[in-house]
Amino acid sequence: MNKYYPHLGSSLRVGNVLLKNRIVNAPMAHPEMGPNGELTAENIGFYGLRAKGGAAVITVSEGIVHMATGRSHTKHLALDNPMERPSLAECAREIHYHNALASIELSHGGKYAGARAHGVDPSTVTRYGPINEVMADGRVVTEMPEELIYEIADSFAYAAKMCKDAGFDMVLLHAAHGWLLSQFMSPGTNKRTDKWGGESRENRMRFPLLVIEKVREAVGPGFPIEYRMSGAEYVEDGYDIEECIEICKILDGKVDIIYISAGVHENRDSFVITHPSMFLPHGSNVHLAAAVKKHMKHTPVGCVGGINDPAHAEEIIASGQADLVCMARQLLVDPDFPKKALSGRTDEITKCCRCFNCFSTFLGNRVTSCALNPVISRELDHRYSFCPTTPKKVVIVGGGPGGMQAALTAKDRGHEVILIEKNDRLGGQLLCEQYVPFKKDLYDYAVQQAKRVEAAGIDVRLNITATAELIESLKPDALILAVGAKQIIPPIEGIDNPKVKMLDALHHEVPELGQKVVILGGGLVGSETAVYLDGLGKDVTVVEMKDDFAAEANEMHKIALDHQFRDNNVTLHLSTTAVKITDEGLVCRNADGEFTVEADSILIAAGMRADWDTVEELRYAAPWYWSVGDCVKAGKVVDATSQGYYIALDI
Ligand SMILES: Cc1cc2nc3c(=O)[nH]c(=O)nc-3n(C[C@H](O)[C@H](O)[C@H](O)COP(=O)(O)OP(=O)(O)OC[C@H]3O[C@@H](n4cnc5c(N)ncnc54)[C@H](O)[C@@H]3O)c2cc1C
Ligand SMILES: Cc1cc2nc3c(=O)[nH]c(=O)nc-3n(C[C@H](O)[C@H](O)[C@H](O)COP(=O)(O)O)c2cc1C
Repeated sequence: MNKYYPHLGSSLRVGNVLLKNRIVNAPMAHPEMGPNGELTAENIGFYGLRAKGGAAVITVSEGIVHMATGRSHTKHLALDNPMERPSLAECAREIHYHNALASIELSHGGKYAGARAHGVDPSTVTRYGPINEVMADGRVVTEMPEELIYEIADSFAYAAKMCKDAGFDMVLLHAAHGWLLSQFMSPGTNKRTDKWGGESRENRMRFPLLVIEKVREAVGPGFPIEYRMSGAEYVEDGYDIEECIEICKILDGKVDIIYISAGVHENRDSFVITHPSMFLPHGSNVHLAAAVKKHMKHTPVGCVGGINDPAHAEEIIASGQADLVCMARQLLVDPDFPKKALSGRTDEITKCCRCFNCFSTFLGNRVTSCALNPVISRELDHRYSFCPTTPKKVVIVGGGPGGMQAALTAKDRGHEVILIEKNDRLGGQLLCEQYVPFKKDLYDYAVQQAKRVEAAGIDVRLNITATAELIESLKPDALILAVGAKQIIPPIEGIDNPKVKMLDALHHEVPELGQKVVILGGGLVGSETAVYLDGLGKDVTVVEMKDDFAAEANEMHKIALDHQFRDNNVTLHLSTTAVKITDEGLVCRNADGEFTVEADSILIAAGMRADWDTVEELRYAAPWYWSVGDCVKAGKVVDATSQGYYIALDI
């Protein structure tokens, strides 16, 4: 029995495989693939790192079984192409080398085929779904003819067999998130009038069951077939948990694991339920899996969504809510989560803060990156990066996320590191997040990095403002400047009024702000602060020059913030300029003229500016210098941590 997390650490027999623990790496569509849609060495490295971290099952994501009709994104693992087999075999081998089981997700986009394909003229894609329809955006969907239903079922079987032959241990049928199989299962989307759909659940399940039957024939007995579906679709006309339970009763015993996710991919609102945002509780979809599990007689059930804590995962299994816990983003942030948790090193786990950097870079630039883990999507570089180096004396100025990461990596490489921080503790701007509930994971990350710095034996000098003289006196070989950014203070009349507060007001458990708070600046920081202060019961007004709030937030986080603003009491004045501050409040101007928003406190959140002055002042104090993070360009944690990491490798 695992002595730390006995349930999470216990094995599970599924078909002809043995899962070594209850942690499954949920599928995450990988970054760009090779020219023919094969897995590249980088893609394989991506999975290898996760396998090394100790999860029982590593799921390769979203292989498309029928490329002519089924691709959803730009490039895909083309599972109807026998030429994919070598890269599949290489990937399965890499996962096995690290003692994990290799699974692969088999998918088809159905009526959303091509929806997210960049550089593809939508009019050239024929989309097939359960019924003829014209989607809200004008895309035409053709009812899938019966011959195509059989052809696609066969293509699932072909793909499954090819993956098995390439060395995979199990296959995952993707029937979640509104793609083809779920379009047939759902009464909201499957309004066919023939035997493949309509009111009758039996008819709606005919296609998914045909797929299962064909796949079983192809892979033979014992080879685990997993099935992923949404516990509730959370869209108009979508099915709810009651319908999901009835569907799962039909699937019970026919598949080897059922994973219960939530939502529909192509629906903005439900997307941030599928991938629970930082505003939702951890494990917010577990109740769906728990509801299904109560009715299952044969098939184990897995849950997913915002789980980042081993004690929580243990409790889910121990209390019988699910048999398996799946994690996607958490295993990006810290692939070693399973190994650390199950060997009693829980304190060393870096937790996902659900900032959505990963998904947004994937949707936008089609690369995957992680705000807190600089290695992600550079796994191969990482493997070779710690090559021998001549130890040097490195001075780092600034103990924010950039400086701390640089210090840790430089120390790991054997350098002598001195970290100078003018504050009385490490953490930089992230210390503002200490009392913000939905930012707790991000704040905890800063605290944890500080502990790592201490444990690494780095020479940390707090309460010291670095000067050129001080740095010169230390005689460093290399200097890293991570001095961050300064708050922009808008040059408006009355800015020195005592009502005016800077962001350091947030450093206090009870922020030093009156009841009526006006936030000057509705960027990401201003908007999140508004949500936080509204939650504390303050009367909050945001004044923003642009015509949108949090305009620089990433796509997914913006959706989550939209939800917050829809449900809270914050007053938003967009396209509005601050004119002056008086004893009454903030005088503003917009298209309707001038008006005053009464305020007890005016919190300035007008943005940050890179501290180039300090960089300029300090940079000549060593033979060579680098700057990282916000002092290069005011940005996000991802810039600070990744630059800190890679600069330290450059020394
Ligand atoms: C309220 C708030 C919320 C935010 N939320 C998010 C978020 O959700 N996600 C996200 O990605 N980013 C967020 N950010 C931005 C993020 O915090 C920054 O991008 C990040 O902290 C930059 O890290 P850094 O190490 O470059 O600089 P900083 O964090 O600014 O650290 C610089 C450090 O240098 C020290 N320093 C400066 N000059 C000297 C000197 N001469 N001698 C010694 N020490 C010195 C400072 O005291 C400071 O500790 C937020 C910022 C704020 C203010
Ligand atoms: C970058 C990214 C890509 C994803 N791609 C897929 C995918 O291809 N197939 C799939 O079924 N789910 C995909 N998901 C959803 C995850 O498997 C998981 O259900 C979701 O992220 C919630 O779990 P988490 O909170 O542990 O991240 C993806 C998630 C992320 C963050």
